[in-house]
Amino acid sequence: MKLLRKTALVTGGANGIGQAVARLFADEGANVAIADFDDSAGEQTASEIRSRGGTARFFHCDVSKAEEIRETLRHAVEAFGTIDILVNDAATQLNKPLLETSDEEFDQVIATNLRSTFLFTRDTAKLMIEHKHGGSIVNFSSTFAHVGSPGYLAYHASKGGIASMTRAAAIALMPYGIRVNAVAPGTTLTPGLHRGADDTGDHDKAMDSFLALQPLKRFGRPDEIAKVVLFLASDDSSFVYGADLLADGGYTIL
Ligand SMILES: NC(=O)c1ccc[n+]([C@@H]2O[C@H](COP(=O)([O-])OP(=O)(O)OC[C@H]3O[C@@H](n4cnc5c(N)ncnc54)[C@H](O)[C@@H]3O)[C@@H](O)[C@H]2O)c1
Repeated sequence: MKLLRKTALVTGGANGIGQAVARLFADEGANVAIADFDDSAGEQTASEIRSRGGTARFFHCDVSKAEEIRETLRHAVEAFGTIDILVNDAATQLNKPLLETSDEEFDQVIATNLRSTFLFTRDTAKLMIEHKHGGSIVNFSSTFAHVGSPGYLAYHASKGGIASMTRAAAIALMPYGIRVNAVAPGTTLTPGLHRGADDTGDHDKAMDSFLALQPLKRFGRPDEIAKVVLFLASDDSSFVYGADLLADGGYTIL
């Protein structure tokens, strides 16, 4: 087991890729703290992990709210004593191009995706430094941090910011034995992807058009991305710092 006796906090762990990460980490021996604002899916995921013999707790947290992030970290440390691994997965998407994006929409996407990654990273790093055990932080960027698209303006901004912040944080935290990296998933079959398709007004047509863009002619699976997150979180990647590791089925090399 790669994460035995480690405690991992996974934001967005109630659904999609974050849920696959929470399950895989628990299978690898970690105590898992799931932080999400989807209470029913979060409780259900934690309880399913426990029923398989793992250790997991759900903590309600809207990551766009700084106060809820502070509370979640306090409760997770009360429950598990420390945090060794942080996975910043929670995010929102907004399929709007530049000219249609309002100030409020831009701020909301940035708060949920970029500012939450900053706050969780800074405050968890302080705990890790205090506990003197080092640690590993895995952020979620996206292929959209690497290529453009007609829509998703605020999402592009947030994910580009996360990729760049990951490099700066990796340098800042290197002296404390804390590694910071990011994974950049390609199009992955999750509730979020289905929601994105719904937002276009024609779910099936949108899914077909997303699929047509995939060099592999299939979507990624959450468990495929979770394995990359495990690599970055564990000592298997002990010489990897500030990476933004693409796991996109070749989307960005075409
Ligand atoms: N699925 C893809 O195709 C894809 C592609 C590139 C990057 N990503 C990134 O991977 C990560 C996971 O994506 P996914 O497709 O699994 O998403 P998803 O929408 O299926 O799941 C996201 C999870 O985050 C939670 N969440 C959203 N906003 C939150 C908030 N304000 N506070 C707390 N929790 C919140 C949701 O409740 C949900 O459990 C995200 O960072 C996303 O940007 C996904």
